[in-house]
Amino acid sequence: MSEKKIKKTVVSGIRPTGNLHLGNYFGAVRSFLKMQHDFNCYFFIADIHSLTTHPTPANLQAGVRQVLAEYLACGIDPEAATIFIQSDVPEVTELYTYLNMNAYLGELERTTSFKEKARTQPDNVNAGLLTYPVLMAADIIIHKANYVPVGKDQEQHLEMARTFANRFNRMYHHKLFPAPKPFTFDGKDMIKVPGLDGSGKMGKSSGNGIYLYEDPADIRKKVMRAVTDAGPTEMNQVKPEPVENLFTLMKIVSAPETVEYFENQYNSCQIRYGDMKKQLAEDIIAVTTPIRERILELVNDSEYLGKVARMGAEKARESAVRTLTEVRELIGLRKLY
Ligand code: TYM
Repeated sequence: MSEKKIKKTVVSGIRPTGNLHLGNYFGAVRSFLKMQHDFNCYFFIADIHSLTTHPTPANLQAGVRQVLAEYLACGIDPEAATIFIQSDVPEVTELYTYLNMNAYLGELERTTSFKEKARTQPDNVNAGLLTYPVLMAADIIIHKANYVPVGKDQEQHLEMARTFANRFNRMYHHKLFPAPKPFTFDGKDMIKVPGLDGSGKMGKSSGNGIYLYEDPADIRKKVMRAVTDAGPTEMNQVKPEPVENLFTLMKIVSAPETVEYFENQYNSCQIRYGDMKKQLAEDIIAVTTPIRERILELVNDSEYLGKVARMGAEKARESAVRTLTEVRELIGLRKLY
């Protein structure tokens, strides 16, 4: 008799704060596609997390719809993975409340993303920002996730999720939650997709995104405008950050031979950045075009989007309710009636 293998559980989410860009795709969604048939997957739209930036109700709804359509357009199969909207599973916010009782001000204030936000938006340092990693931990552990496919920028948040999970287990003397580990596409380091504006990562709010839904002509324009320099003057010269970023992106989207060709051109001081950018733009467009076509088809199909969201909410709630029953029992929140 063949034993049925129990699949490990995977959780990951994306905030509906803008269209998905290459950072989201290569940092997260590409792994979702790889994992969806072999793991018990929960992929969600983190609409509650996005409230820290105070979107209007109309923008929030449009954002949720867009990310849902984009998840599906990328190829996430709602029959294989559970796709849901975070606010459809209110158990998550209940677990967040409990975890908050064991999350300490010092550790929350030391979080890099919090410090960064406090510096860049001093007028909106709200409590939701401070406890953002706690809500994220609740998202992950409510389904007892083993793996979390995310980009490098989420590494610290994931580490905190492990801390909160372990702390809960210790406090209530029960190994309820597994320690969620990062999952990377190639089994190597977590990745950071750079922007093409010289430094830093590609981000929705940095104005340096190349979006999956974007028109090929606009992608070409953006890539051709990417920051470079006057070119190397010595053989095998170390690349300055903007040029390194161009190569990093090329390593992600292009064939290894293409990367090797331009590496050789650079190292022998023969590189023509214009040629490299043209090639890079075409390789990006080859990735985005089929996705873009499906986004355009799906985004107005309200009936289908509604059906997927309902199905996902039901499945996600079932799992969340199960965990929360155990959590309440362990904490001692028992009914007297
Ligand atoms: P968000 O919406 O900022 O990003 C969604 C996913 O895309 C990845 N990503 C990148 N990866 C590589 N290079 C980049 N330039 C880049 N930009 C974005 C992110 O690492 C992420 O995987 N806090 C999360 C949302 C969240 C979540 C969760 C994730 C809420 N709860 C539970 C996992 C598990 C966020 O803001 O992602």
